[in-house]
Amino acid sequence: MVSEADMLSIPELIKKKRDGGRLTDEEIRLFIRVVTNRSIQDCQTGAMLMAIRLNGMDQAETRALTQEMMSSGEVMSWPEEWRGRLVDKHSTGGVGDKVSLVLAPMLAACGCKVPMISGRGLAHTGGTLDKLESIPGFKVEQPGAQVHRILASVGCCIVGQTEALVPADRVLYAMRDATSTVDSLPLITGSIISKKGAESLSSLVLDVKFGRAALYKDLCSAKQLAESLVSAGNDLGMRTGAVLSRMDVPIGRCVGNSLEVIEALETLKGNGPDDLLELLTTLGGMLLLMSGRVSSLSEGSTMVSETLTGGAALSKFRAMMEMQGVASEVARSLCSAGTDYHMFLRKAEHQIELKTPRDGTVLDIDGLTLAEVLHTLGAGRSKVGEPVNHSVGAELLVSPGQTVKRGDPWLRVHYEGPPLSPDQTSRLQNILTLADQEQTHVTQQSLVAEIILPQ
Ligand code: URA
Repeated sequence: MVSEADMLSIPELIKKKRDGGRLTDEEIRLFIRVVTNRSIQDCQTGAMLMAIRLNGMDQAETRALTQEMMSSGEVMSWPEEWRGRLVDKHSTGGVGDKVSLVLAPMLAACGCKVPMISGRGLAHTGGTLDKLESIPGFKVEQPGAQVHRILASVGCCIVGQTEALVPADRVLYAMRDATSTVDSLPLITGSIISKKGAESLSSLVLDVKFGRAALYKDLCSAKQLAESLVSAGNDLGMRTGAVLSRMDVPIGRCVGNSLEVIEALETLKGNGPDDLLELLTTLGGMLLLMSGRVSSLSEGSTMVSETLTGGAALSKFRAMMEMQGVASEVARSLCSAGTDYHMFLRKAEHQIELKTPRDGTVLDIDGLTLAEVLHTLGAGRSKVGEPVNHSVGAELLVSPGQTVKRGDPWLRVHYEGPPLSPDQTSRLQNILTLADQEQTHVTQQSLVAEIILPQ
């Protein structure tokens, strides 16, 4: 143990990292402590972040950074009898990604405890909290005692991060944004895993996306991130695994906050699209395997998918909505068969359908451009704190591999007005790629490219 007096000063610490040295556990502890109590100058934090961004950190430094960030605030504690059953998943962000809304109640229906702490959307990716807030009455901010009560009686809750959890990340994340140091493997790892570690989970699964609409465009760089996240999670004592999944085409048929809630409810009623089901059963199956509830991935996948066919996950979602503030009458109606969702979830003022320009087979649908155009129509936010319009979104009326005739509707856009501009319309028309019918045999590609399980 190094005494405080023997420690390097902050400028010396920055110099050490700047010159390619490796920081000791004590040095990282000092850095995170002064960041948390704000006794370091912002310029020094920025300089250290840039030194880390440029020179990286090895596994031991990343482990220490993650551990110290986690310990900078409150670490949740749970009853002893829940040990081994506390699970969660994190996604690096996608288009049409409503997995959390369905997966949390599926896992609760399998006997897990899921204290899911989610985020809001920024730029083109949607946020689970924004989606849930399109349900009238749903409150994502819940005091710790209520989180305990919801987990005890329902088994899952989906809430926002409190001020007390990982305060070091709040400071560092804002500075990373301002200093162009967001895209650093150890800094991303510390940020994501410290927050999951503070949930005191038994098992964690990460959905690391790659492709046109993902943070990482290629499988190789996404895999580096997945491996870094998996080692940091396991180093913290959570059994951690990852899925590398394609993020080119939107997930499912709906994009946009309230439309995604409707698709999640339909999935809970047993009518989910195949690509979403593939992600749900893979991620859910992995968590059941890692937490020792089943002995193989296929057994886990079968067990979670049965919660959809038998209605058990839907009942959990209904109970979670009620405990998070939704009136019982609204929760009951949303969960009934054949309900008119728009009696409760506001529908946008206008809908417009785009038509296919010719006969062909759907080869590709560009999820990134779709999300960017929906963002300009008000579905997303560009700055933290901006409001979003829950009813803006789009429904895909076709999927890759499908044969279409000229003039068939392929996209329904929900918007509030004014009418779409020529630029918005032409960008939307260009997201659909058709192949000549006789030329190509197109099949829908599996979303899951690779699975990493803990050793
Ligand atoms: N999500 C986080 O919470 N932190 C990052 O650094 C990146 C994504």
